[in-house]
Amino acid sequence: MKRKVDFLVIGSGLAGMMFALKVAKKGKVLLVTKADLEESSTRYAQGGIAAVLSDRDSFEKHIEDTLISGDGLCNREVVEMVVREAPEKVKELVDLGVEFDKNASGEPDLSKEGGHSESRILHYKDITGKNIEETLAGRVRENRNIEVWEQAFAIDLMTQHHLGRLVKRWHKDIACYGAYILDLKTRDVITVLAKVTVVATGGVGNLYQTTTNPPVATGDGIAMVYRAKGIIENMEFVQFHPTSLYHPGERPSFLITEALRGFGAVLRTLDGEKFMHKYDPRGCLAPRDIVARTIDTEMKVRGDDYVWLDCTHLDPEELVSRFPNIHRKCLSIGIDMRKNPIPVVPAAHYLCGGVKVDTRARTSISRLYAVGEVSSTGMHGANRLASNSLLEAVVFADHAAEDALAHLDEYSWEEKIPEWDYEGTSHPEEMVLVTQDYKEMQMVMSNYVGIVRSNLRLQRALTRLEIIYNETEELYKKSVLSRKLCELRNLINVGYLVIKMAQARHESRGLHYNIDYPGKNDQT
Ligand code: FAD
Ligand code: SIN
Repeated sequence: MKRKVDFLVIGSGLAGMMFALKVAKKGKVLLVTKADLEESSTRYAQGGIAAVLSDRDSFEKHIEDTLISGDGLCNREVVEMVVREAPEKVKELVDLGVEFDKNASGEPDLSKEGGHSESRILHYKDITGKNIEETLAGRVRENRNIEVWEQAFAIDLMTQHHLGRLVKRWHKDIACYGAYILDLKTRDVITVLAKVTVVATGGVGNLYQTTTNPPVATGDGIAMVYRAKGIIENMEFVQFHPTSLYHPGERPSFLITEALRGFGAVLRTLDGEKFMHKYDPRGCLAPRDIVARTIDTEMKVRGDDYVWLDCTHLDPEELVSRFPNIHRKCLSIGIDMRKNPIPVVPAAHYLCGGVKVDTRARTSISRLYAVGEVSSTGMHGANRLASNSLLEAVVFADHAAEDALAHLDEYSWEEKIPEWDYEGTSHPEEMVLVTQDYKEMQMVMSNYVGIVRSNLRLQRALTRLEIIYNETEELYKKSVLSRKLCELRNLINVGYLVIKMAQARHESRGLHYNIDYPGKNDQT
């Protein structure tokens, strides 16, 4: 079956929904999402969204903090653009109904996180993302120009390749005509022809055994764009959040927001010693790459499974009122954070690289935009500054929408695109083949391509991944498609890109640390 829409939006986090709401004033939008509408990383954001809103603060300080955190690889022009637009974009969110906490004088209650020289994080208690996601989902559902299709999995983007032409990555005229969408309820694949397509599929946390990301974060957008011969960059910069709750067996790992350290919580080894100042003068509020690597080192040296995050010296009432969600979660596993330290470990959290885009969120493929965590805009460089991700998503969704609206009338549907070819597919093989390969892939990535890397580990990872890749491609060709199989295939594609780009970087910078190249190479 074929469908035709003006705008096809893949993904229903902050990036996808903001884009949809903006373009719906001019055309029909189909918003597809592989789980329920509200399921996304956006939903779990705790800390908040960074913006310069106090007199003490300045754009220059926010720009400088972002550049320092990015460790020499941010695009200054992009950073300046995003930081300067932040207050206006926050106002747009508020106009849509998103709430942020205020202090006693009615001003925004701004918190502080690692790498920020000032308090500038707007938040709604410690459930900022839930508030954003649910508010935008409400606006989307009531918009008559937006059709929401849940349990709909985007498999592949359509380009000239589907018209029988050989498409190479360096070709300048690749165009996107929409995507093949698997209806997870009926198992039918629908050919959705679109004038404009937007990939807003989020991150890749499920590459790793321990992650703060929900199960939907499987790098689908990056894999799809890569297969469509688009340009991908900076994949070696996978961000590990320093403090996820140590609670073995729980997946995803529950995040303990950096704002808690901004509020005064301190990291200690299991014998009670503070250790961060030995490594960085900024202590517990050093940028995220440094804190995560330091915790990893301390755990390895001491043979401990976790470190403590200690809030017991903080005002108990204020603590619970500011972080009710974390308090509830800790109590549910027998930890009262007013009296006991919280056991924490680093967990895969965010991908700084992804689909390369320009300042209007245009990819290297025409008629195709990438917005949010799936994209690589130049904002984060080698290490994202806390709470700059929601900000980047909202700014680039706006730029993409403006550009798409300006060009919509130039495009028409490519009617010659064929329907999905089901030929050669039989009933799925035993699910155990998929789940076993999934586990192996996560183990390889966690053990060899984690916080600390080496040439030998990266090479081993590549060799192991190639075996899993061949097995999975074989299975993919002969099986009826399932979400799990498609996700595994995508994660393997993405893992390959992380390893290859890590191997190509002969230095340690930001989130990429290779013991064979411990220093920075400023010639690269
Ligand atoms: P997402 O919100 O992840 O949405 C992606 C969407 O795409 C989902 O709806 C998913 O189902 C859908 N999708 C994926 N693949 C497919 C497919 N093949 N077909 C159809 N649909 C698909 N950042 C901050 O700035 N501040 C914070 O405080 C903060 N806290 C965080 C806390 C946690 C626990 C996590 C995990 C992240 C946090 N981040 C934070 C990062 C930030 O939340 C994300 O980077 C951001 O929300 C990404 O938004 P997005 O719209 O790009 O993607
Ligand atoms: C956090 O609340 O610590 C996460 C913030 C972020 O990822 O930007």
